[in-house]
Amino acid sequence: MTAISISPTDHVFVLTGAGISAESGLPTFRASDGLWAGHRIEDVCTPEAWERNPGLVWEFYSQRRADGAKAQPDPAHIALAELEHKLGERFFLCTQNVDDLHERAGSKRLVHMHGELAKSRCGDECGEPPVTDHMVYKSLSAVGRCSCGARMRPHIVFFGEIPLEMDRIQREIAKASLMVVVGTSGSVYPAANFVHWARQGGARTVYVGPEAPLNASAFTHVVEGKAGEVLPGLFAVVGS
Ligand SMILES: NC(=O)c1ccc[n+]([C@@H]2O[C@H](COP(=O)([O-])OP(=O)(O)OC[C@H]3O[C@@H](n4cnc5c(N)ncnc54)[C@H](O)[C@@H]3O)[C@@H](O)[C@H]2O)c1
Ligand SMILES: [Zn+2]
Repeated sequence: MTAISISPTDHVFVLTGAGISAESGLPTFRASDGLWAGHRIEDVCTPEAWERNPGLVWEFYSQRRADGAKAQPDPAHIALAELEHKLGERFFLCTQNVDDLHERAGSKRLVHMHGELAKSRCGDECGEPPVTDHMVYKSLSAVGRCSCGARMRPHIVFFGEIPLEMDRIQREIAKASLMVVVGTSGSVYPAANFVHWARQGGARTVYVGPEAPLNASAFTHVVEGKAGEVLPGLFAVVGS
C-alpha cells in the first residue's frame, strides 16, 4: 500500500503484540496452537498457576528472560523508535509484550500493559514497587523475598488480572488521530478493544501483520505482511 501520511497535527497511538517480536526469534502465542513456547497458558500465566505451582511459573518466565536477552530488536522495533524520534510527544506506544526489544531499539514514550520480563515484584502486592531482576532462576529456593516476607513473583500481568497503566492508555487513545496496531491476534482484552475506542474518537486505524486479526472489521486499513518488512516504509511524516 501507499505510505500512511502523518500530518503536523496528527497524534499517533501504536499498539504492538507478540507478532512484532516474531522476527527477533521470540515465539508468538496463538501462532503455535494456543501454546506459548510449548506451554499451556493456564499452566504458567494465571493467578491459579502461581498459587498451584510457583516453581513452574518461575521456570517458564526464567526461560523467557534468557530467550529475551539473546534476541535483538528487528526492523519493526527500529522503525517505531525512529517514528517516535520524528513525532516526539505526538507519539505513544503501548505494548502487550513483556520483552524489552522496544526499549533496546530506542523507544521511550511507551508502556508495557502486561508487565515486563526484566522486573519482579512482591507476590502479596504489599505496595513495594517492582524491582529490576534479570536473574534466570534454576530453582524456586533461589527466588528472593520482599521486605514483607512474601515470595517475589514475575512482574507480569497474568491472564485474568487487570492490565497496568490503563488510565494513561485511555488518555493517549483519546488524543489519537491515527492508531497503528501491529502483530496482535485481537483476542486478548481489553487491548482488542483499543481500536474501537480509537474509532469512536474518529481516528484512522491501521493493522499490520501477516494475517487479519479477529477484530479486523474495526480497522480502516489492514496491511498484510510481516512487521519488519512493512513498517520501515509505512509512514510519510509531513513536515519532517
Ligand atoms: N514477546 C513477548 O513479549 C510475548 C510473546 C508471546 C506472548 N506474549 C504475551 O501473550 C499475549 C499474546 O497476545 P498477542 O495478541 O500479543 O499475540 P498472539 O500470539 O495472540 O498473536 C500474534 C499475532 O502476531 C501475528 N504475527 C506473526 N508474525 C508476525 C510478523 N512477522 N509481523 C507482524 N505480525 C506477526 C500473528 O498473525 C498473530 O496475529 C500478549 O498479551 C503477551 O503479553 C508476549
Ligand atoms: Zn511485599
